[in-house]
Amino acid sequence: MNQEERLKYMNMLLKSQLSSEKDDLANISNATAIVMACIERLNWVGFYIMRDDELVLGPFQGLPACNRIEIGKGVCGTAIESQKVRLVHDVHQFPGHIACDSASNSELVIPIIKEDRVIGVLDLDSPEVGRFTELEKEYFVKFVDILNEYIEWDNI
Ligand code: SME
Repeated sequence: MNQEERLKYMNMLLKSQLSSEKDDLANISNATAIVMACIERLNWVGFYIMRDDELVLGPFQGLPACNRIEIGKGVCGTAIESQKVRLVHDVHQFPGHIACDSASNSELVIPIIKEDRVIGVLDLDSPEVGRFTELEKEYFVKFVDILNEYIEWDNI
């Protein structure tokens, strides 16, 4: 499979998971496993969810990570503040990057916004500098759109 076929397959697996199980926590947990199984050269993928005024760690795959991230801090906190996708070529050049896993060298962060409510982020990390492409960004935005179709985030 080429890169686009893998990304399409990943989103198809996600839909299949979400349409076959009602439990939102089980679904987002398996969503992280689906990413890890389909996408190569990642060292970490997971959710940070808004709790009061900060991001708190949710289901993930990878090494233990920071539990809490302040809004405006690091790549994740900046994605929340700006409500924009962050595709960071080299995290060591990103002011305020939070090094949870020293293996991470590039990062893709998709903010999760449902009906104008800021829910959190999906964070992907890679040990390779410049790992993430515009095509992946596009498919991960779709991935989050699919999650928003099915997940009732209040249950998380
Ligand atoms: N590097 C992130 C923190 C989360 S970890 O990568 C899992 C950041 O700067 O927001």
